[in-house]
Amino acid sequence: MARSATASIDLTALRHNLRQVRNMAPNSNVIAVVKADGYGHGIVDVARSLSAADLLGVACIEEALQLREAGITTDILLLEGFFEDSELTLIERYNLQSVIHQHVQLDQICQHSFKQPPSVWIKLDTGMNRLGFEPEQFPAIYRQLQQSGTVVSIRAMTHLACSDELNNPLTLQQYQTLKSVTNDADIELSVAASAAVIGWPQTHEQWVRPGLMLYGVSPFLNKTGADHQLRAAMLFQSKIISIKQVKQGDTVGYGASWVAGRDSRIGVIAAGYGDGYPRHAPSGTPVLIDGQRASLVGRVSMDMICVDLTDMPNTKLGDTATLWGAELPIEEIAKRCDAIPYQLLCGLTQRVAITYKN
Ligand SMILES: Cc1ncc(COP(=O)(O)O)c(C=O)c1O
Repeated sequence: MARSATASIDLTALRHNLRQVRNMAPNSNVIAVVKADGYGHGIVDVARSLSAADLLGVACIEEALQLREAGITTDILLLEGFFEDSELTLIERYNLQSVIHQHVQLDQICQHSFKQPPSVWIKLDTGMNRLGFEPEQFPAIYRQLQQSGTVVSIRAMTHLACSDELNNPLTLQQYQTLKSVTNDADIELSVAASAAVIGWPQTHEQWVRPGLMLYGVSPFLNKTGADHQLRAAMLFQSKIISIKQVKQGDTVGYGASWVAGRDSRIGVIAAGYGDGYPRHAPSGTPVLIDGQRASLVGRVSMDMICVDLTDMPNTKLGDTATLWGAELPIEEIAKRCDAIPYQLLCGLTQRVAITYKN
């Protein structure tokens, strides 16, 4: 029998979520962020389903090539740019757009001889202090790129550090910094990832860059995708592979950390951290068994977790256990584990069979 842990991806939910992005940012083009294997959903199938996006955002050339080799023709943007000079040939051959965020990239792109020059996005660091040029360098960089003649179009972008905090003043400070230094150039801008698509409409500009919300997940603590009319695309499930009776005072699992407060009926589910279920999920984390909430008991093992079925006498071997999905928000599971939904989605491992539903 095949291993029971599976992820079912609802491609109609992805398309619905893209439409929601367009409803929320009606005047913007959409860069659908599909890096990290489409946030664990499978980059190629996600990209195919999101063919209505204006541009696909990936982290590196390998992800871009994976898409092109699978026949994806949508425009693709390298969100971190290129890491080696040799990638410039591939950028041209595969018709990719590139971010540039530091001088070494600026010099390389200005010195390369392209037959078909690429589109370039100048990334400015307006407060994240991660990737990006200093904002005041923008006019000189813009001029250098224009004069080089090696790019076909130039846009600018920045990344927000705190847009998931709706009262944090840094967001508008970052936005204003970008606006003020690019004002004279009159070029297209991109600022908003999911949290700003939903919560900071004044930052939408010509291009929004959502990732998480496309997968139906909320970027805000204490909210779920459904609160924003989004639909969870991933359903992570497994099955009960054993049921046993333990006595009051018995313990369950590694470290004997969970002690039965009463005689208990314990279900063993075939999913563990080896599948991407979070190792730090504490006892009490909900698991849905045939639509009803059961509680995780004891530590998460590599291949298994245990749940308390004492109050669910009708549950039986082979019953389906939902670990997260539309009926059990991943946001809730992440919060229990002191993790973020991004981490859980990307953490799904290769042995989880992914199936797609159209
Ligand atoms: C540069 C950039 N833009 C957009 C996104 C998408 O962010 P989110 O998934 O929060 O929408 C990311 C994700 O990390 C990113 O690094």
